[in-house]
Amino acid sequence: MVKLIPTGGAGPSGLRLLLVDDDSDDYLLTRELVEELPGSRFSLDWVDDFDEAVRAIGRGEHDVYLIDYRLGAKTGLELIAALKGQKCSGPIILLTGQGQFEIDQAAHEAGASDYLEKSALNAVTLERTIRYALKQYAHEAELERKVQERTKELEDANAALRDADRRKDEFLATLAHELRNPLAPIRNALEIQRMATNNPTTLESARQMIERQVRQLVRLIDDLLDASRMTRDKLRLELETLDLIEPLEIAIETSQPLLAQASVTFERHIPAESMRLRGDRVRLAQLFANLLNNAAKYTEAGGRVTLSVEKADGSAVVRVKDTGVGIPPELIPRLFELFAQFNRSLHRSQGGLGIGLALVRRLVQMHGGSISAVSKGLGHGSEFTVKLPMLPAS
Ligand SMILES: Nc1ncnc2c1ncn2[C@@H]1O[C@H](COP(=O)(O)OP(=O)(O)OP(=O)(O)O)[C@@H](O)[C@H]1O
Ligand SMILES: [Mg+2]
Repeated sequence: MVKLIPTGGAGPSGLRLLLVDDDSDDYLLTRELVEELPGSRFSLDWVDDFDEAVRAIGRGEHDVYLIDYRLGAKTGLELIAALKGQKCSGPIILLTGQGQFEIDQAAHEAGASDYLEKSALNAVTLERTIRYALKQYAHEAELERKVQERTKELEDANAALRDADRRKDEFLATLAHELRNPLAPIRNALEIQRMATNNPTTLESARQMIERQVRQLVRLIDDLLDASRMTRDKLRLELETLDLIEPLEIAIETSQPLLAQASVTFERHIPAESMRLRGDRVRLAQLFANLLNNAAKYTEAGGRVTLSVEKADGSAVVRVKDTGVGIPPELIPRLFELFAQFNRSLHRSQGGLGIGLALVRRLVQMHGGSISAVSKGLGHGSEFTVKLPMLPAS
């Protein structure tokens, strides 16, 4: 039944042909032709059975498939159809009897590369047909590869867009929530003011409440404006020569209330020597305050936040470390993306829009520096390291 008979002959770089033909005389003829082909680069295997042919082609071990149109009760076209559109490892050339021109058309439609009349077959035509079929096949494979590559690129881009779109939706929900949050206490305070017109202590605490909530609203809107400037590339620095300690002190002062409110211990290790750099005082203070605020926000009462500074290779290295909720390592690559927030459910009351770290990274980069984050995972604290190039000491 099965006659996968190798003729041998072809070297390791030779071409393996598979003949599917139910007639052994035709096999012998084809084999003679193949042996005549120049360069003895060809080897010929043979199967005479329809089902075996489907399996042999499926194994993809051959470079060219020569398929006889007449295969017992079935046809070569049926064989091609039985491959169910799976990609063959090489071109298919259909062999037919004389004058079966209608088969030519059908063969092409079925996916065969070419069609040869058996009666007109000789070594020259066979070699030429194989050569052309291989060339065309390689060309099609290359096109196919390019199409697949492009499709993959489009799919990736599409997924990224979907992801960005989803994050924007989530962000809108967060924004609405965050903007609405301060309104309830403000409304309460106004009501209290209306009722308690003659109690100065109550009036004063209501006033303070409104002040706090308005400050929070202003902070949110300032962050939003910064985010919008950042995405439109409109952030600008006001550069001056300064000592790093100056923006650091402002940042510590800014974050002090939040650190105190969080009941965390705050430690600072800042060397006395000066660290001069070109930078924007306000923006540097803002970026360090964002890191300190995060450390306060994402650390439970009783925890510790440490700010340390050192010099290394002409850079100032600022570390903000906390003993807080930590960050799952797999999320760290997305930490500095705009609107990325991971533990909102844990810290809903802490609020925020997911703008802080994106802004921090951009500002650090605009100062020619770099930022990185490490965490041993949830519950194990986080550490942010900012490196800023210093001016040479002279
Ligand atoms: N020190 C930290 N410990 C644990 N998680 C952190 C820490 N800093 C940031 N994160 C996580 O990274 C997310 C992004 O931080 P980012 O500062 O950008 O946004 P936010 O603090 O949620 O809001 P915003 O800073 O805009 O008020 C946070 O929501 C939080 O999940
Ligand atoms: Mg933040």
